[in-house]
Amino acid sequence: MPRSTVARINLEALRYNFRVAQARAGTAQAMAVVKADGYGHGIRSVAKALASQASKFAVACLEEALEIRAAGLDQPVVMLQGVHSPQDLDVCRQQGFEPVLHNRAQLEWLTAASAPLFWLKVNTGMNRLGFRPDDLSLVLGELESAGCRIPVQGFVTHFACADDTTSPMTVEQTRIFERATAAWPELMRSVGNSAAHFLPGQPLYDWSRPGIMLYGASPVIGTTAKELGLRPVMTLEAPLITTRVVGPGESIGYGSSWVADTETRMGMVAVGYGDGYPRHAGTGTPAAVRGQRIRLLGRVSMDMLAVDLSQVPEAKEGDRVELWGEQVSVDEVASCAGTIGYELLTGVTARVPRVCQ
Ligand SMILES: Cc1ncc(COP(=O)(O)O)c(C=O)c1O
Repeated sequence: MPRSTVARINLEALRYNFRVAQARAGTAQAMAVVKADGYGHGIRSVAKALASQASKFAVACLEEALEIRAAGLDQPVVMLQGVHSPQDLDVCRQQGFEPVLHNRAQLEWLTAASAPLFWLKVNTGMNRLGFRPDDLSLVLGELESAGCRIPVQGFVTHFACADDTTSPMTVEQTRIFERATAAWPELMRSVGNSAAHFLPGQPLYDWSRPGIMLYGASPVIGTTAKELGLRPVMTLEAPLITTRVVGPGESIGYGSSWVADTETRMGMVAVGYGDGYPRHAGTGTPAAVRGQRIRLLGRVSMDMLAVDLSQVPEAKEGDRVELWGEQVSVDEVASCAGTIGYELLTGVTARVPRVCQ
């Protein structure tokens, strides 16, 4: 019998969240961002589940785009990091992938013969990737000379602080983007990670790019996914494999970092950082068993962690413990571990089977 530590993937919740994204995108179309193995949920199953709703997908790289084809889907796939070699351009053209062109090397690799449909990345202040706004005329001129002007789909940019509703940065980036691209009204424009879908008055132009919200984690600082009307897609659960009572002065786990001050009924759960559960989640991090919230005790090990069962006396070996999902949000666990839901979801390791339902 395999260990019953699993990540349950609720595809209905995923489809529901996509509908929320599309409704919030208004007249823009939402392309489903499924990079990093569908944010850890399994790129093939996620893409297949969204195939009837999403008319475009977005991934980081060619390998991920090919996964979508391997799933039997023929939608266009935007490659947000573009190509890493000139040969990849031929594959993109043949497969209907739309790479983002963001640097001079990629520009030089393009020839009329190899050019797929592609997007031009504008650096509006994130300063990760993209051409400077002032360079767009030059770049489009060079593309024209190389015979590659026609396959330019449009412009993309990415927001640095859309998750922070108090930051003026998104308004400023939008202003820069609008000015930079105004001379080419015939080309499309794409902005908008998940957080931008919740910013009042934020234009999303032709294509928005929701990622984390599709998986039901919150993209907005200080607001829960539930408050945003999103449903959790992944439930990480593992069995209780031992229960015991520890007496005052007894400790649990590595480093003996948690010491009981009264008699405490505790349990060991078969999940640890080897499964992607964050080691930095300390005592007090929430989990749930039998519909009740419980707390972690002591340090997370590679294959197990300890929980306090004193409030759930009926809990017994074999019970399923939810580490995150419906009762405990992944964002809560992330915050206890000093990180973000994105990292936890994408960090669930290959040892954990994804069970779609
Ligand atoms: C360029 C780009 N667009 C869209 C997204 C989706 O962002 P989010 O998951 O915050 O919705 C990402 C994610 O990192 C990205 O890099």
